[in-house]
Formats: sequence, structure tokens, C-alpha cells
Amino acid sequence: MPWVPSLSLAAVLWVTAFAGEGSCPAGAGSKCDAATGSTAATSGEDRPAAKVKVLPTADILTQEIDELKGVMQICKERIELLEELDRTVKSGVNLSLPESHMRMLKEQLPLMSEVTTVDEDKAPTSSAADFLIAKAVIPQETPASLVQFLSLRSRGSPSAPTQTNMPTALLVAVEANSNVRLYAPTGEEVLAFSAGHEQPVTYLAVSPSHEDGLITTADAGGTIRIHTVNVRQHRLAKEKKKGSPSDEKRSQFLGTQVNVTSQFTTEMQLPAGSAKLTALAMATQQGAKFVAAGDDEGKVSIFSHNGSFVAKVDAGQGSRVEAFSSHLSSFMFHAGSEWGFINFERLLVQHVSCPEFEGRVTSVVIDSQQASRVVVSDEEGTIWVFNLKEKKKCKLEHRFPKGATRGQVDLASIRGFTIALERAGQGVDAAAVLAINMSHVGKSHQPSSVVWRAGRSAVRDWAVHKRHQQGDLLAFLSEDGRAVEVFELLMQVYTPPPATDAFGDFKMPVIAVAIVLVLGYQYMKQKGNFGGGGKGGHGGGGKGFDTGELAALKRKLEMSKKLGGGAGKPRPGAGGL
Ligand SMILES: *[C@@H]1O[C@H](CO)[C@@H](O)[C@H](O)[C@H]1NC(C)=O
Ligand SMILES: *[C@@H]1O[C@H](CO)[C@@H](O)[C@H](O)[C@H]1NC(C)=O
Ligand SMILES: *[C@@H]1O[C@H](CO)[C@@H](O)[C@H](O)[C@H]1NC(C)=O
Ligand SMILES: *[C@@H]1O[C@H](CO)[C@@H](O)[C@H](O)[C@H]1NC(C)=O
Repeated sequence: MPWVPSLSLAAVLWVTAFAGEGSCPAGAGSKCDAATGSTAATSGEDRPAAKVKVLPTADILTQEIDELKGVMQICKERIELLEELDRTVKSGVNLSLPESHMRMLKEQLPLMSEVTTVDEDKAPTSSAADFLIAKAVIPQETPASLVQFLSLRSRGSPSAPTQTNMPTALLVAVEANSNVRLYAPTGEEVLAFSAGHEQPVTYLAVSPSHEDGLITTADAGGTIRIHTVNVRQHRLAKEKKKGSPSDEKRSQFLGTQVNVTSQFTTEMQLPAGSAKLTALAMATQQGAKFVAAGDDEGKVSIFSHNGSFVAKVDAGQGSRVEAFSSHLSSFMFHAGSEWGFINFERLLVQHVSCPEFEGRVTSVVIDSQQASRVVVSDEEGTIWVFNLKEKKKCKLEHRFPKGATRGQVDLASIRGFTIALERAGQGVDAAAVLAINMSHVGKSHQPSSVVWRAGRSAVRDWAVHKRHQQGDLLAFLSEDGRAVEVFELLMQVYTPPPATDAFGDFKMPVIAVAIVLVLGYQYMKQKGNFGGGGKGGHGGGGKGFDTGELAALKRKLEMSKKLGGGAGKPRPGAGGL
């Protein structure tokens, strides 16, 4: 069983991480952060060595109990320390602490438990570490400026239609100098080619449908170029193929199983006299494919995907087109105070106006489960949900609490959740990623809709890829363009496998391993970028035990309980069909 070593390794690391964190007294601040950081660093150095050693093993229940006992021990020591401090402070002995600190220790404060409940509707209910798994950090030799996920069609042969080796998406990273690099979600580079622009590349769009494999790039001079990416099983590629175009680039990855190629398809140019290009997207409506390019004056130039110019429509009425969002046949834009839909066939712009909406739209996304539902963020970062029947009648379905999300917010929709990227400022804690629970739409008196929140360093670009029956993918390009981090997001509701599934009894251990891994290895490794439970506002809880960690702990225990029930049983359904 290959997961056993990684499980115990993760558990060992997790204990280290937790111990390091737990030994910080509440409110010790940056001094304690530094200490924790060094703990993490040391363990990180130990890792390669630990792989070589034969690691002790224990069943998961024993490990859970040991871990919890460890936590109890830490709590006991902490209580003793705090009691001692309390006695000392009250005895009036000169602690050689600055006067302000002494005053702080003696001051009567409102109860912290009361303070935190004020924010209950905004604080995350879980820890990001429960859902996000790091898949790869892809270094970029020369800084990239844009990232996207390109959906792939699976081209398995008819005799073996479910080819498991085929990735369902490739990560596309584009540099200003036209270099395009494609990566498997695991981080393996599968193809690099030049998009052939003469000016710096400023925008990137991919075809919405997994049938096409089109990558569209636009440069500062208003030139737009389309490349087609093909991914084939080698078995098919072996068949004799005549007249392969000479400008086709090749690569192989995943051993020798898959063959990725790219081919220049067409080029188009913004009409003369157009303002600077500010937004780019591809769309499919009524089976026809389009490229839409928004500009600084609110105009949208529409091209047929074969490169021929169709028309220019006025969407922004003078305001810069900021972004597009499309889902199925719905295509939306927002520009200044204007937002709405574009119908490419009838060359029609349908403006949306919602009487209850105050402020200006800063991001729009169409709900991936319900095409008439639109999620919008305003200038304060507050998230609104509207129902747009026939794309006109606007009904406010929900407004998430003010302050649950803040600042410049970018939105993406996955099944059941909206992923929001807050871009507050600069530096290490410059951004945050959140998951908003869309099951709360239309319901009042719900606990916080923020499922998790993860602080992270500034992001130049990001991408979300929704997957069917698999974890969704997230990618973040660092502010300096030097690294792309890829995460898998496991937010699907867990449904037990049918009894006839021969692999059913494997799923619980696999999930348990994933969670232990996430809690341990992940927790430490990502500590630099993802600040644990985040800044959701749990008053003075201190760094050691925030609600996120406790929730994670509870979850672990529940998981191990479930596992304990099934672990000893023989494989169910192994005999049945
Ligand atoms: C406490 O000790 C420090 C030096 O250790 C001294 O500067 C300070 O004045 C003392 N405070 C009191 C209240 O005695
Ligand atoms: C990859 O595909 C291209 C185009 O179909 C083909 O010419 C090439 O031989 C393939 N490479 C391999 C190693 O099969
Ligand atoms: C491009 O496609 C449009 C229809 O989508 C067609 O009318 C036009 O003739 C095509 N242009 C070229 C150059 O193929
Ligand atoms: C989302 O909200 C629903 C309804 O309140 C709840 O049952 C569900 O557990 C929530 N999901 C997560 C991941 O928190």
C-alpha cells in the first residue's frame, strides 16, 4: 500500500506543525511567528532524510489519540504558564516589561467570546486546509504575465473511451514576449511555443468548450492571434498521417502516452481607430464561435473565430470595458456603471439595471449551476446575487453580509460555491481566496457563508477550472510572474459509493490520507503563503488555536471514527458484480 509511508510521514509532520504552533502563547505576536517559522523550516530540512529512514507506523486511530493527547499536553502546559503569569502580575513584582504591556495585562476587556460572535456571519466556518491541496508550484524562468486553464477533449480511441491518463485540462502560462507554455496540472511542461506577437502580449483567452482547444492572445497593438492545441493518445498518432503542417510544434509527456501539438490558426486586428484593448474573451452562441475584444472607450469588437471582423458594438457607453464572463450561451460584460449581456448573433447589447443594487459592478460571474443567476461584487467587495429572467428582469436573490469580502474582488463560479479572490494590497498578506457557500442564497439566519478563507501573497493573475467528478483546479500566478501555484479544490459533497463498487472500501482510507496530508504536510508547506485560518476576525483567540484549526481537528476525529468502523471489515461487494 503506497499511501502508508506518506500517511505516517504526514502525521509526524503534522504533530510537529501543531506543536510548534500550539506552544505560542496567546498574543505573543511576531516574535512567536518567527519561532514557529523556524520550526517549520527545520522540519522541512528533515524531510529528505526522513524519507530514507524506516518510519515508525501505527494505525490511524492510535495516531489520532496520540495527536490529541499531545494537544492536551500543550494546553495543560499553556494553562500552567498563563496561571503563573497571572499570579506574578497580580503580585506586583517588577517584570521589567514596558509600562504599556503591564497595563494591557491588567486591563478589564470585554469578553473575547462576545467579541468574536459579532463577526460570526463573516468568519470562515472551516479551514482552507480542509479543502485545498497543493498540486504543483511551477517556476517560471522568465516572468509570466497571464494564466488560464485550457479544457481538453478526451480523444481516447473508441475501443477504450475512458482513457484515464489524459489530463482534463492544461495550464496555459503566457509571457509578455509571446512565449506560451502548457503544463499538465501536475506541473509537467508539455509544450512551449511562441504566439508570434510583435508587441507585448496583454490578454489571454481560451475557448469555453473543451471541443476546440483554442488559445487566443492579444497584444498592446490590438493584434489578436489564435492557436489550436491538440492532445492525442500516441496510439492514434502512430497511424500514418499525410501532409502534417511544418509549423506544428510537438511534445510528449506522461511517459510517452500523450502527444501535444499546437498550430497557428488565424490572426485578426482591431479595426483602425479603435481605442486600447482592455478585455478579451471567446464565446459560443448558437453553435457559432466568436472572439470579443473590449476597448478603453466601451466598444466591443466582435470577430468570427475564422478571423473575419463581424461588428463593433457599444457596450460601455464611453466607459472602459473591464471584463467579460461567459457560461454556456450567456455572455456578460461590465464597464463603468454599465453591465449586461451581448448577443453575438443579433449584435445586441442588453443592459441590466437592478433597482436594489447600489454602487458599481467590479466583477460579474454567471452561476455555473443556474444560468439565470448572476453573482456580482460591488466597489466595497460585497457580493450580491441576482436572478435575471430573460436577461432583463432583475430580482435580488441575496446579498452576502457587508465585510464578508472586501476591496477589489474577482469572482469565479464552481458547483455550489463562488470562489472570490480579494486583492487588498501589496506584500505577503496582500490577497485572500475565499469560498462562498451558494446554498445560503435566499436563506436568512444562516451561519457564515464564508466556508474558508486563505490569505496569500499578491497575485498577478489567477484561473479556476471546474471539473466533473473531480476536484476543481485553481492556479495563482505570483505578482512577480516567477511562479504558478496549482491547487486542487475538493468541495464536492461526499456521497457514499454504491455497494457494488469494488473500490468502495478503498475510498475512506484515501480520503483520510488526503485529510491527514492536507492538515500536516500542506499546513506547513503552505504556511508562508496561506496564513492558516486567516483574518476572518476571531478577536483575541491568539495564533495557537483559531476556529479553523479546531474545526479541522474535529473533522479529523470524525473521519477517523468513520474509518475505524470500516477498517476491519472484509471488502464488501467483492464477490458481487
Ligand atoms: C522595573 O525595572 C526596570 C529595570 O529592570 C526599571 O527601569 C523600572 O523603573 C522598574 N519599574 C518599577 C515600577 O520599579
Ligand atoms: C505527434 O503528433 C504529430 C502530429 O500528429 C505527429 O506528426 C508526430 O509524429 C507525433 N509524435 C509522436 C512521437 O508520435
Ligand atoms: C468566416 O466565417 C463567417 C461565418 O461565421 C463567414 O461568413 C465568412 O465568410 C468566413 N470567412 C472566411 C475568410 O472564411
Ligand atoms: C453550505 O451550506 C449548506 C446549507 O446551510 C450546508 O448544509 C453545507 O454544509 C454548507 N457547505 C459547506 C462546505 O460548508
